[in-house]
Amino acid sequence: MANDHADHHHSHGSHSHGSHSHGSHGDSHHEDSHHGDGDLAEMLDLDAEVLHDYYREVIGWAGSLVPENPRIVDLGAGTGTGTLALARHLPTADLTAVDMDEEMLERLRHRAAQAGLADRIRTVQADLDGDWPGLGPADLVWASASMHHLADPARTLAQVYATLRPGGTFMITELDAFPRFLKDAADAADAAVEERCHAELARFRQEAGMHMGEDWGARLKAAGFELEGERRFDIELPAPLPPNAVRYAQVTLQRTRSRLADHLTGDDLAALDRIVATAPDRADLTIRATRDVWIGRRP
Ligand SMILES: C[S@@+](CC[C@H](N)C(=O)[O-])C[C@H]1O[C@@H](n2cnc3c(N)ncnc32)[C@H](O)[C@@H]1O
Repeated sequence: MANDHADHHHSHGSHSHGSHSHGSHGDSHHEDSHHGDGDLAEMLDLDAEVLHDYYREVIGWAGSLVPENPRIVDLGAGTGTGTLALARHLPTADLTAVDMDEEMLERLRHRAAQAGLADRIRTVQADLDGDWPGLGPADLVWASASMHHLADPARTLAQVYATLRPGGTFMITELDAFPRFLKDAADAADAAVEERCHAELARFRQEAGMHMGEDWGARLKAAGFELEGERRFDIELPAPLPPNAVRYAQVTLQRTRSRLADHLTGDDLAALDRIVATAPDRADLTIRATRDVWIGRRP
């Protein structure tokens, strides 16, 4: 159950550009939500570090939506990238981080304590597919790459609606794929391996019944929210990548390899191993990622 603690961590470069649309999260996985998933935890932490400019922009946007002393709920908070960034950006905010995975929450509490934010962050362990513990009334509910994990979007949206005070906002962030690190122009063969991985991962997610690629704008409206904003961020980090971004590439590709171990050819697996092993020596790796954001307001 709950606990208190608070924020910290660092960030580094990237570029983000807005445009339009919708999508979902790159790392699917109900199976990834289990305990002891250290790779996922490191990947989430690095995601926030490496995509720093995007995070700054989206956190600033969230901050513009809330009143003084806001009460914020982070659904599927993971290691707390959103919780901690919001706590740092909004010094009077009071935050509740919810996740089913106690190890994620433990990591979140540790980071929060290190950052001296423990007094404003509490964690709640709960399965959001079940009945929700009392989380509201909230000024802002934040869900980053977590909505696609939940079984019943309409039910979840009704629960969020009930958690918000009238006038409160719900900010959903999703992505539709892992970032891409290899460019056709630089290395066509390796880029093709990456594309085959992406196709296979997309098939997995679909078979698992995950809510990837949902039109959350339409779903928000159907649930009684006013659609207040919608935006796609196209993120690109050019080569050569800084060391933490190289590490992010390695962790992501290694994770892809583990998940697809039984589904790729021996050649593709060997190629992935080589790419991961030689990543620090390559000058051609880039990062291309998209994030989709929707904001709904409870009337
Ligand atoms: C991809 S991670 C995103 C973490 C974080 N929001 C971020 O953006 O870095 C998804 C998180 O949702 C959590 N999750 C998945 N299904 C859940 C459920 N039914 N109830 C509560 N949390 C859940 C997982 O444990 C995981 O920490």
